Amino acid sequence: MNRTKIVVAYSGGLDTSVMVKWLSEKYNAEIITATGDLGQKKELTGLKEKAKATGASKVYIQDLTHDFVADFIFPALKASALYENVYPMATSLGRPLLAKMLVEIARSEGAAMVAHGCTGKGNDQVRFEVSVAALAPHVKVLAPLRDWEFKSREQEIEYARLHHIPVAATVASPYSIDENLWGTSIECGVLEDPMMEPPPDAFHRTVAPEDAPDEPRNVEIEFDHGVPIALDGTWVAGVKLIDRLNEIGGMHGIGRIDLVENRLVGIKSREIYEAPAATILHFAHTELERLTLEKSVFHMKTQIAREYANLIYNGLWYSPLRTALDAFIDETQKTVTGTVRLRLYKGNMTIVGRKSQFSLYNPGLATYTEDDTFDHKASEGFISIYGLPVKTYHEVAQKNISEGRKPIASGILTKEILQ
Ligand code: ARG
Repeated sequence: MNRTKIVVAYSGGLDTSVMVKWLSEKYNAEIITATGDLGQKKELTGLKEKAKATGASKVYIQDLTHDFVADFIFPALKASALYENVYPMATSLGRPLLAKMLVEIARSEGAAMVAHGCTGKGNDQVRFEVSVAALAPHVKVLAPLRDWEFKSREQEIEYARLHHIPVAATVASPYSIDENLWGTSIECGVLEDPMMEPPPDAFHRTVAPEDAPDEPRNVEIEFDHGVPIALDGTWVAGVKLIDRLNEIGGMHGIGRIDLVENRLVGIKSREIYEAPAATILHFAHTELERLTLEKSVFHMKTQIAREYANLIYNGLWYSPLRTALDAFIDETQKTVTGTVRLRLYKGNMTIVGRKSQFSLYNPGLATYTEDDTFDHKASEGFISIYGLPVKTYHEVAQKNISEGRKPIASGILTKEILQ
């Protein structure tokens, strides 16, 4: 009889290595490992041999960078999705894609179960499990870290030793790190004290602003329908463009984020992020929207951005809400085409120029010179009608006060006006 198959989301780290063996024993199962390349700089070579040596019967390593950029990163960028206004969500965006990979492999292998190495107190378990449930409701998701017997890293290492599981001989990082093309997430260790400044060794892809070059660097980014397509006048495909901006931004100390954030499971956690390209692209994209989006669309879009960020963070990528919001966002992006020029300097970014064929900036209306085309007289009537409700309110309030009655709601304000 064929053994049960389990597809394991595998990174080659201690947890997922131990998982391969532990699951094969517990379920008497055949283990298939699946690793997605999301542009993490961590070496993927040698991973196949390692997975095999750990007991995997089959090993998948898939390059998902293109899909990650086209189907996850760019939609989030167009939506201006920053969780709690700051976090560009490299980790949160990667999970639904990895879940998709697991489901596809489970389907082609005829596996009824998939497994991930997330803990029971984070957001990632939710993202994996909700995504798998959405894409393949009949596939069972296992989360060994929630229910296995190991209480510490040392116990896992001991288990690995007993079972001849190869684990890296290098000293373990004092942090928990998750990295991909869109950014690095760093937590644990001394970072758990929110008053503790991150030590220099917490950072991997950005220099400290004070160590950045003394010369500023201008970058010009061209967007088409809200998607970045060129850098400094040269067309570059998405993955490359992000790679290049990570390099340039990292060199200038751009994209360090220190955030105490609200997890879905109710915990406040302190996380350090390094996301040079994401920080630069979000900034540039919003600056272009300021130029080309009609006022009320721009304002509405900032509300949509918050909803969109929440749904990504909270594991609802494969939800009808996302598809519905995408329809709105794509409609708004039809005019987000043009060029933004930024200056990067010692951890800071400033906009120094923007242009678009859809620019709604009208020099005739904006100018204070004799070329002014704005109808100043029209403002008089506009203001008297625009201010009418407030004026009426205060007339009534003042009448009541002068006749000795108690001032209504904003009476204090009215009193001050009367004095
Ligand atoms: N807090 C981030 C999120 O929920 C990152 C989680 C993973 N972080 C890590 N250092 N392993 O998206």
